[in-house]
Amino acid sequence: MASSKKRLLTGLQPSGQLHIGNYFGALKPFIDSYEEYESFLMVVDYHALTTLRKPEEMRENIISAVKSYLAAGVDPSKAVIFQQSQVQEHTELAWIFECLVTVPFLELSHAYKDKLAKGHEANAGLFNYPMLMAADILLYDTDIVPVGEDQRQHVEYAREAAAKFNNAFGEVFKEPKEMINKAVAIVPGIDGKKMSKSYKNTIPLFGSKDDITKAVMAIVTDSSGERPENVYAIHAKFKDAVSLDALYEEKKGKYKDLKEALIEDVERLVAPMREKYNSLTEDDVKRVLNEGSDRAREIAQAKMKVVREKVGVSL
Ligand code: ADP
Ligand code: TRP
Repeated sequence: MASSKKRLLTGLQPSGQLHIGNYFGALKPFIDSYEEYESFLMVVDYHALTTLRKPEEMRENIISAVKSYLAAGVDPSKAVIFQQSQVQEHTELAWIFECLVTVPFLELSHAYKDKLAKGHEANAGLFNYPMLMAADILLYDTDIVPVGEDQRQHVEYAREAAAKFNNAFGEVFKEPKEMINKAVAIVPGIDGKKMSKSYKNTIPLFGSKDDITKAVMAIVTDSSGERPENVYAIHAKFKDAVSLDALYEEKKGKYKDLKEALIEDVERLVAPMREKYNSLTEDDVKRVLNEGSDRAREIAQAKMKVVREKVGVSL
């Protein structure tokens, strides 16, 4: 049955263990809004292949990405959760878009330049990355693409690919809009910088209580002010402002007590998710992905049938 809801689609990089910054910045906003839409959540393994050369790591990361979203609360009966590489139409459509855009146009990509600056090899997959992402989005007549600010240009590329195709061959693709949640604040890491796996300053989202304790105890504090600012800034994600300030007033100067309070508050949020994560098996993940990919493929195949006719390859 066709849904009257708008369609939302987003891609998850299968990139390993998530941290609480990822939770507040990406998982929670998705979980809070996905039921308002007809939602598609895709693990973008072929995008990951532009930089990942370890098959076992790829496999584990795909599984852990899906477990993370399920454990954090996505209901697979209310969203289509699927694997990009299981729906071959994505790479097929990417090729068609690659034939429509120019090299100088792709050379404008900030993400590409950033990756080269970080020392990644300039492989052709990395260069064409925006056209595979355009295919991901456009195959499903997506209305809304929730992404971080760093992905804004990629959604513009998708609109441009849609316009180029529609101009050349007739109206087939809908132009999508990005949804960038500006209200989501950056979660600081244990050293006060942005929490990021590349800075090794994270509190793991599905870590054991010991892992969390270790990370919290390692939060950098200085004794110059009234309160340990780095502890407070992380704690603010877990407690409302009034009770947080009351606690920091009561425990003024007692950094160890404050860290212990933070550990308890982190535990309260993550313990049920960790339990769910650990209860999920690889078979559960495969079942969800197979069902989701079947559903996604139906839509993608119908779209590609029209695309093939339009470009003149269907005989
Ligand atoms: P990392 O910086 O650890 O490599 P990613 O770049 O893979 O994280 O980010 C995945 C998602 O999590 C993105 O949507 C990003 O905006 C969000 N995110 C990552 N770190 C933070 C943070 N410290 N605070 C808020 N959101 C974050
Ligand atoms: N490029 C996105 C990122 O790095 C991941 C992605 C791939 C994506 N395909 C997508 C996001 C389609 C939204 C829609 O985060």
